[in-house]
Amino acid sequence: MSMNLVTLLYLVASICFIQALKGLSNPKMARRGNAFGMIGMTIAALTTVALIFELRKLSSGNFSGLGLILAGLVVGGGIGAFVARKVEMTKMPELVAAMHSLIGLAAVCIAVAAVAEPAAFGIVPAGQTSLPAGNRIELFIGTFVGAITFSGSVIAFGKLSGKYKFRLFQGAPVVFKGQHMVNLALAIAMLGFGGAFFVSQSWTPFVIMTAIAFVLGVLIIIPIGGADMPVVVSMLNSYSGWAAAGIGFSLNNPMLIIAGSLVGSSGAILSYIMCRAMNRSFFNVILGGFGAQAGAGGAAGEQQQRPVKSGSPDDAAFLMSNAESLVIVPGYGLAVARAQHALKELTDKLVEKGVSVRYAIHPVAGRMPGHMNVLLAEAEVPYDQVLEMDEINGEFGQTDVVLVLGANDVVNPAAKTDPTSPIAGMPILEAYKAKTIIVNKRSMAAGYAGLDNDLFYLDKTMMVFGDAKKVVEEMVKAAA
Ligand code: TAP
Repeated sequence: MSMNLVTLLYLVASICFIQALKGLSNPKMARRGNAFGMIGMTIAALTTVALIFELRKLSSGNFSGLGLILAGLVVGGGIGAFVARKVEMTKMPELVAAMHSLIGLAAVCIAVAAVAEPAAFGIVPAGQTSLPAGNRIELFIGTFVGAITFSGSVIAFGKLSGKYKFRLFQGAPVVFKGQHMVNLALAIAMLGFGGAFFVSQSWTPFVIMTAIAFVLGVLIIIPIGGADMPVVVSMLNSYSGWAAAGIGFSLNNPMLIIAGSLVGSSGAILSYIMCRAMNRSFFNVILGGFGAQAGAGGAAGEQQQRPVKSGSPDDAAFLMSNAESLVIVPGYGLAVARAQHALKELTDKLVEKGVSVRYAIHPVAGRMPGHMNVLLAEAEVPYDQVLEMDEINGEFGQTDVVLVLGANDVVNPAAKTDPTSPIAGMPILEAYKAKTIIVNKRSMAAGYAGLDNDLFYLDKTMMVFGDAKKVVEEMVKAAA
């Protein structure tokens, strides 16, 4: 295989990746985008294997490691396909965090191997071990970014899954006095040892630098909790891309540089968009520890016993059928109950009755970016009924009925009214301004951030308790 052909195939794969990102920015094109991503990755992986084969043939004619590489592709790809098929949509963020940890670990492993045997990677001629200055910098940056990504992603995985008793895996932030100073001191030490490695190319500073980076990854993520986790996942996504790009420079592999940069920059842009959506500072996130003072997740126990008005699905269907305008706010509970198809049936009936129906999407509703858009697209809800927060927020005041379905934090007025709230400053869907509010959830339990929600206690709010799917199905019957 000639180098020109390799370059051409890498170029085709890169174009596929760019098309994938373009497609994923729009629900109508998302499937096509995904297909482009899969094609691009297949081309990139097979070209790289063919390239390794070719280089081996030229250098030694010894193909002993290739069997392992192919076995790795089959086993890794098989596990990936199995896990991806099995995972529930609501568990996607933790799967993504787990995947990022593997990318970080892979970057560290490759860097260690490249430092040990640079000639095997074609970085230096056979028999030589001294790395050029540029490669030393690339390797130490790739290593520490990879190590931070690995340990940070493991903590994010634990926090998001919520299954483990281990203290560091709890959703609530873990904070201690002087945390930022400790992080800063460790970061300086890590860079110092990286510098020592650059000068000496010796193992001791390299290993210490890597160990500090693993610890730093943990320390950066543990103070973050509650509602702020989505930003962390996309930030780690970005880190994993930069780690891969750094290693790509060392290995002189343009594919890894391009794919890593695309992941790094798109993850950074997504983090920025989510920070804006949650009114957080991007730089605090990048440096770690934002939300540390928030104590998110702790307020659930302080929930008060206050009276609420409750009604039946029939009452709710009556109110909605007689409204001129209805805005539906979907949230995590809709996804858990998989109520989107029943909801589509309900809204079709209401539209037939002349009700103007729209959906209001909060950027962090659910458990992953675009979660609600995916669910509604699955039920074939027309895209023109689906509005983003900025488009709909000005209209709640003139809306007759708002139906909040399994959403909680994203409609919690405390974000606007209580400066001490862990979600203070996070923009919300202003459902509280509507003339009548119907809220469906199973109980008075808190949402992801662990907070009580004043919206549920308003005079104009009617709670309809029950699983979202069952409740909406009953609403469909009642609206017939
Ligand atoms: P949440 O605040 O998590 O509230 C969901 C509500 O749904 C809960 O209060 C729950 O109350 C109810 N629910 C659960 N299962 C239900 C079912 N089967 N039927 C009916 N209701 C059900 O959801 P949200 O408003 O969508 O806000 C999302 C939160 O998750 C934000 O705090 C966000 O920061 C965070 N988060 C978002 C992401 C991304 S990227 N979107 C990732 C991680 C975390 P009951 O238990 O009483 O039913």
